[in-house]
Amino acid sequence: MSSEVKSFPAWHSRWTFILAATGSAVGLGNIWKFPYIAGENGGGAFVLVYLACILLLGIPVMVAEVMLGRSGRQSPINAMRSLTSAAGLHGFWNGIGWLGVVAGLLILSYYSVIAGWALAYIPEIATGRLQGESVQGVQELFNGLLQNPRRLVFWHSVFMLMTVGVVTVGVTRGLGVAVRVLMPLLFVLLVILLIFSYRQGDFARGFYFLFSPNFSALSLRGVLEALGHSFFTLSLGMGAIMAYGAYMPADASIGKTVLVVGFFDTLVALMAGMAIFPIVFAHGGIDPAAGPELLFISLPVAFGAMPGGILIGGLFFILVTIAAWSSAISLIEPGVAWLIETRGFNRFTANLLLGGMAWVLGLGTVLSFNEWDQYKFAGMTFFEGVDFLTSRIMLPLTGLFIAVFVGWILAPAVSKKELNGGHSRAWSFWYWVLRYICPPAITVVLVVGLYDSFV
Ligand code: PHE
Repeated sequence: MSSEVKSFPAWHSRWTFILAATGSAVGLGNIWKFPYIAGENGGGAFVLVYLACILLLGIPVMVAEVMLGRSGRQSPINAMRSLTSAAGLHGFWNGIGWLGVVAGLLILSYYSVIAGWALAYIPEIATGRLQGESVQGVQELFNGLLQNPRRLVFWHSVFMLMTVGVVTVGVTRGLGVAVRVLMPLLFVLLVILLIFSYRQGDFARGFYFLFSPNFSALSLRGVLEALGHSFFTLSLGMGAIMAYGAYMPADASIGKTVLVVGFFDTLVALMAGMAIFPIVFAHGGIDPAAGPELLFISLPVAFGAMPGGILIGGLFFILVTIAAWSSAISLIEPGVAWLIETRGFNRFTANLLLGGMAWVLGLGTVLSFNEWDQYKFAGMTFFEGVDFLTSRIMLPLTGLFIAVFVGWILAPAVSKKELNGGHSRAWSFWYWVLRYICPPAITVVLVVGLYDSFV
């Protein structure tokens, strides 16, 4: 491992990378966001487009990001800087690293607020308040939370402190335990929820909703959302995966590793969807297109009706928090690593500065659900605006830059070497997709989607 790497210790095996990358990828995007945006966009057709985006755009860009990280071996901004200057390229390409760090902070600002909702639910469920509660009851409780900025700020602060705390101590140790032990537990709980929703929910309707494509329900906006979400859920386009790639052993296969991470990530999202929608359809009064509140209303109703729901429900929201936590860490780490490497910050102050900035911005999201809910720009609240800006513009834009940079600008020898692709068909196929499929597809979706959103 090169000596430039100061920000976190070397990882010895491919599995450590898989665990860390999975920890970053699997988060609120899978359990909270995927089901609700699938619901808002009518289900099946959206899911199909989303899966196509993961396979054709997300996975190839992820391979490119990991590869850039591993060949640069530094924080994303500096990795880009040394790769571009080695290739004699214009400083413009360094923008990839910058855009990523800013996107990370913006995402963290609202991510922490939503993770705070999950935190707030733990005591509610554990004390039995939701036992036997009706849809209306849970809805009231949830609205009560959203209408109370102080409570939201409290839980947002707790989550931000948890994130900053781990990143200050150092990423590898705590994260290892979280992903090795707690992620499998989350998976087991999702299986339990699936069994419950199979038995008690309207499973057939849920299945039909998620997997039978009805293209008339899908708008252009929905396609842009599917693309943006495929980047969001795989943690692409902001340097997180590049930062982790820097610590991948030189002899590990990037392609296979990325496929494993992509598979787990997609599996968790689909399982969450199948746990939620059958319950939604079995209970009148929950709208599948309810938006951000979907997870926080439908599942608690299920827990309240389940034997052992206090335990399972409490545990579920604890694990959602942990999944969010391991993602939040990767949102802040690229910026922290850069401040340490080039600006002489120590880990503590770097974290305090960036965590503090994200915390302040998060207040805007807190207020979007109550006092500022009337203030809209282009029809969006503050929260919706930050989400739109990051996941539908910044992440795809960075993904586009990465595809163009690796596919068209960087000498193919670099990626051939990193990907062991001298003669392999897999390398040629990947390179072809990255050159000819990713850039035009991302450009079209971005431009058309923006046009549709604003015109
Ligand atoms: N992938 C994470 C999720 O799905 C969110 C995330 C995005 C994390 C970008 C890091 C970088 O919840």
